[in-house]
Amino acid sequence: MKQIKIDENVFYVGTNDRKKSLFENNWPLPFGVSYNSYLVADKHTALIDTLEYGSKSDYFDTINALLDGRPLDYLIINHLEPDHSSMIGEVMNRYPQVKVVGSRQCQRLLTSYYSVPEEQVVEIKDEDILDLGTHKLSFVMIPWVHWPETMVTYDTTAKIAFTCDAFGSFGTLDGAIFDDETDSSKYEDEMRRYYSNIVGKYSVNVQKAFEKLKDVEIGTICPSHGLIWRSNPQKVLSLYNKWCNWQSEDGVVIVYASMYGNTEKMADYVARVLAEEGVRQIRIFDVSKTHPSFILSEIWKYKGLILGTCAYNGEMHPQMGLLCSELHISAPKNKIVALFGSSTWNGAGGKALTAFAQQEGFETIAECVQISGKAEDGKFAQLEEMAKLFASKMK
Ligand code: FEO
Repeated sequence: MKQIKIDENVFYVGTNDRKKSLFENNWPLPFGVSYNSYLVADKHTALIDTLEYGSKSDYFDTINALLDGRPLDYLIINHLEPDHSSMIGEVMNRYPQVKVVGSRQCQRLLTSYYSVPEEQVVEIKDEDILDLGTHKLSFVMIPWVHWPETMVTYDTTAKIAFTCDAFGSFGTLDGAIFDDETDSSKYEDEMRRYYSNIVGKYSVNVQKAFEKLKDVEIGTICPSHGLIWRSNPQKVLSLYNKWCNWQSEDGVVIVYASMYGNTEKMADYVARVLAEEGVRQIRIFDVSKTHPSFILSEIWKYKGLILGTCAYNGEMHPQMGLLCSELHISAPKNKIVALFGSSTWNGAGGKALTAFAQQEGFETIAECVQISGKAEDGKFAQLEEMAKLFASKMK
């Protein structure tokens, strides 16, 4: 394979994964994912993060070609989740003298996953310098983005921030590795899906990371998934800044769970009224058809959220329950929220949705609107009123 050079003696040695169906065995990967690993082959040499085990058969051939007979001196671990660390054992086997560099938390977790001799572990802290020759690396601890040991490695010479999961994205790197080699906007949906699915819960910690990095001059961002941002790092910084502060766009996501079409009719009715009232971005999802991963991403994108469910065994529909569970974890904020449901006996679905909204601290614009039995003409007045109120709140 061709050498992929980021700066003098700094190289991309990552790979794409087009085989895996579910990231973390939970999140669909229709466009795959990349695992980015980096090598600094200076007077001293350092590998920054590894790969998911078995994802690149010629990983060490690539590294050895760049090392050109020299040993690997350091393995820097920004983050220990196995999609980046599960090659550590192989690295230790091939370069037995390598020093493993990480945060204090990393040290603790490292030995619970891998067998690394204590004397080869180097604990670093904020602002420590690892001098590789021309390239001098410093470190910024950004705990809980999204594991406790997370840190950024910063090349003070080349102004490169190796940020691991932060500023990452789903989606493989199809030829283009750098943001200026493709239309980077085509990654935006997959970036937001990655953020909302993986990092969103930790938005306060992302805000703290921004605060710690605010005086760092960043020329290039090298994350562990997705594009390298060398021409316009401000683009990914500004997107992450928007998402971690729960800023969203004008528009409404309507999600429904429907067994026999009545709750679906209510969703369509609400959407039609919203459109008549001037709302221009409306997305409707059948929660039983679209995986919560994608719905969550749209919910992070838009300001309005309307949830509707039928009743099911005295609860909300189980697929709506799954979405609510993911919403509880991801915890998007600053939403305008409304609820609806269809009932047969006592409206248990709508009641369960109401309890969920209260538990999450969502302020709903009105009480949950329920239609009993068939959703048909003559029963939509209350739903219309709710939709009109919702549209007015959106303005
Ligand atoms: Fe890409 Fe948190 O691992």
